[in-house]
Amino acid sequence: MQTRKISVGQRELGCRPGESVLDALLREQVEIAYGCRQGACQSCIARSLDGAPPAAAQAGLKDVLRHQNHFLACLCYPERDMAIGIGSPEQRFCQATVTGKQLLNAETLLLTLHTDQSLDYCAGQFVNLKRGDGLQRSYSIANNRVHARNLTFHIRRLAGGRFSAWAHDELKLGDLLEVSDPQGLCYYLPSGQPGNLLLIGTGSGLAPLAGIVSEALHHDHAGQIHLYHGSREMDGLYWVEEMRGLAAQHANFHYTPCVSRGDAPDGVASGRANDVAMKQLPDLKGWRVYLCGHPDMVQQSKRQAFLNGAKFDDIYADAFHVASATLD
Ligand SMILES: Cc1cc2nc3c(=O)[nH]c(=O)nc-3n(C[C@H](O)[C@H](O)[C@H](O)COP(=O)(O)OP(=O)(O)OC[C@H]3O[C@@H](n4cnc5c(N)ncnc54)[C@H](O)[C@@H]3O)c2cc1C
Ligand code: FES
Repeated sequence: MQTRKISVGQRELGCRPGESVLDALLREQVEIAYGCRQGACQSCIARSLDGAPPAAAQAGLKDVLRHQNHFLACLCYPERDMAIGIGSPEQRFCQATVTGKQLLNAETLLLTLHTDQSLDYCAGQFVNLKRGDGLQRSYSIANNRVHARNLTFHIRRLAGGRFSAWAHDELKLGDLLEVSDPQGLCYYLPSGQPGNLLLIGTGSGLAPLAGIVSEALHHDHAGQIHLYHGSREMDGLYWVEEMRGLAAQHANFHYTPCVSRGDAPDGVASGRANDVAMKQLPDLKGWRVYLCGHPDMVQQSKRQAFLNGAKFDDIYADAFHVASATLD
């Protein structure tokens, strides 16, 4: 393994053994958008200008982008010197105005944006929100498609988190943000198979699942819909009464809030949401399973759902990877 030369425009820099192109660019203070550093948000897209990039750096990209030698800088560990361009002609953003800010609990903000054009998204997908200085992060759309120009998001404050703390404390009604094209594989298609749905989310992972539930109920989804929302403690849960209200109105919608620490009051299950769900629903043959939130929960639930009979193709997941802080 040796240091590889990366040329970006007029600049040349070294990418050290075991270092990703993204980390090398950030170390050298080259401007590049990024979010998760895990290949999930596609913010760090770049293009190899002198031949194919490593195949592993193209994981999850659309065929057309792969063909054009685009790659994700956070997944790229160069095997040769590379000349690259940053960004993608496909990454389009529209403008949006902040029209609502409301706390759902002490740490979760309900943010409403009005976009200047209608977004074509499926319930459950996420977008990248970009502020004026270019900092962008991924957030899941929390509403169904009926309100396509009024998007809602659940933004959990991370202590020291640049975007989330800024959104909680400084972003004001009337401010402008940019919103990327929708992305992500955790979505509900109204025209899809009827069948039963299992949705498991932790923390702000409720956001995309609430959008999916709302979309499915709006389209009179024929199967059963089971939602499990988990948090460590009671004060980490939110929308409990709203979800109970929906369950009271729709006989096929079942909602189970879960807490994994301390005593669970009546109507709340004790244990981690995925464990509670898998115990209550031991046979998931033919079910579609949606998993959103903490990456460890998503990973573990995929295995559990598969062992309970769900097909891998029927498991839709978006792990909320948070960028590691090593270079910040
Ligand atoms: C597909 C996807 C969907 C997502 N959907 C949602 C959603 O719906 N809702 C939601 O709330 N989140 C969601 N996320 C997570 C979101 O994108 C952000 O990663 C999250 O909000 C944190 O961003 P931030 O800028 O606030 O934190 P960052 O600034 O990126 O910091 C991340 C962490 O590192 C720590 N840190 C930063 N700098 C330092 C330092 N110098 N020293 C020590 N520690 C440091 C911070 O305290 C924080 O804990 C999603 C992520 C993905 C990939
Ligand atoms: S895909 Fe590279 S930072 Fe998210």
